[in-house]
Amino acid sequence: MSNGAGSQFSERNKTREGDNDDVTSTACRSLVDQRGRIARKLRISVTDRCNFSCLFCMPSRNSISWIPNEQLLTFEEIARITQILSSLGIEKVRITGGEPLLREGLETLIGLLSKIKGIRSIDMTTNGWFLSSSKARALRKAGVRSMTMSLHSLKRDRFKKISGMDGLQRIIDSIEAAREAGIYPIKINTVAIKGYNDDEIIDIVNFAKERGLSLRFIEFMPLDGQNIWNPEMVVSGKQIFDIISKHYKLNPKKRSHGDTATTYELTESANEIGYGKAADIGLITPISNPFCADCDRIRLTADGKLLLCLFDSSYYDLKPFLRSGIDKTGQNCSYPRDCSGLEKPSALKIVQYESDKDKRLADYITSCVLMKPPGIEYMTPLSLEKMREKRPRAMYGIGG
Ligand code: 5AD
Ligand code: SF4
Repeated sequence: MSNGAGSQFSERNKTREGDNDDVTSTACRSLVDQRGRIARKLRISVTDRCNFSCLFCMPSRNSISWIPNEQLLTFEEIARITQILSSLGIEKVRITGGEPLLREGLETLIGLLSKIKGIRSIDMTTNGWFLSSSKARALRKAGVRSMTMSLHSLKRDRFKKISGMDGLQRIIDSIEAAREAGIYPIKINTVAIKGYNDDEIIDIVNFAKERGLSLRFIEFMPLDGQNIWNPEMVVSGKQIFDIISKHYKLNPKKRSHGDTATTYELTESANEIGYGKAADIGLITPISNPFCADCDRIRLTADGKLLLCLFDSSYYDLKPFLRSGIDKTGQNCSYPRDCSGLEKPSALKIVQYESDKDKRLADYITSCVLMKPPGIEYMTPLSLEKMREKRPRAMYGIGG
């Protein structure tokens, strides 16, 4: 699916090999897949509900069936799974939704996760609507390090058209609230869509630059709820790079292992406000230049299903291990026959679990991760289309 991006833009590939600064060498190597990729990062969706209805994400309101409340994992269940995953090598957690702040008392979950040995950072992706000053302070106090907020337009009407909410000023205020609470870094996500906001790219760059915010442009992915995606709507990372380059010199930054974004420093962004650091710009290019080769992420859905890749249509249900003591359920997940060259899962040798059930869950998760599919980088247009047909949920139910 690659479109052969320009030489400067492909800088990421130069730093890919052997660049594993971010990997802790002492962590056990249990969450390894058949391509030798090791999972280090976990995205936890705490709800599939959202008060926004972004056109690149949500289905039409009357066709949504939300996860019933009783099927949501409790905070204790999420913490238990995270504890087990941490013992298997997960080091970083990102809380997502839907809109995670719709889940009441989220600070309690953050507090529980903060206590887990081995979790080095807890970050959050939110649409920002519910981020009052007091909420931001409470989340920071509980242990949230950084926050990613969405801003797809700086024009009030357009913001409303894209996100379904008249919320531009409120989100700008939330960004300030996060900054005042000491949340850092603050990242802005912008999904660039042809004909909707591609004429605002430089305005959004200037907005971020003036405020010392990190900015991530994301290519529109075919994970939308209304099936409106088509390749013509995608503004590629290369196109965004070219637009920004007309105004600024973009200095490539070093890429850490598993990073989803190709990042650049804006040379002219001497930032006076906030933390005094230059804003950086990132291009997330799952369509034109995917980053599956060193993917180190796995996802937990709000109802307790393990998802190994955004573009996988299989889920692995963990809830029966938590609620009824059933050994194994959902998708049948056994060790594939051709994994002879791989290290056998070692978690059970070096980790003490609190119960046999935890041990079995660790074993199950380890075997599931082996099944992680290669990713969109290796999908043909036909297999992508098949995935879209089968896909049980759009982005709101997966977590960004
Ligand atoms: N393509 C690209 N990004 C998406 N997001 C949601 N749906 C899509 C999509 N189809 C992003 C949003 C948000 C994050 C949670 O995921 O911009 O920032
Ligand atoms: Fe809600 Fe985020 Fe989806 Fe927008 S992208 S509808 S804010 S979950």
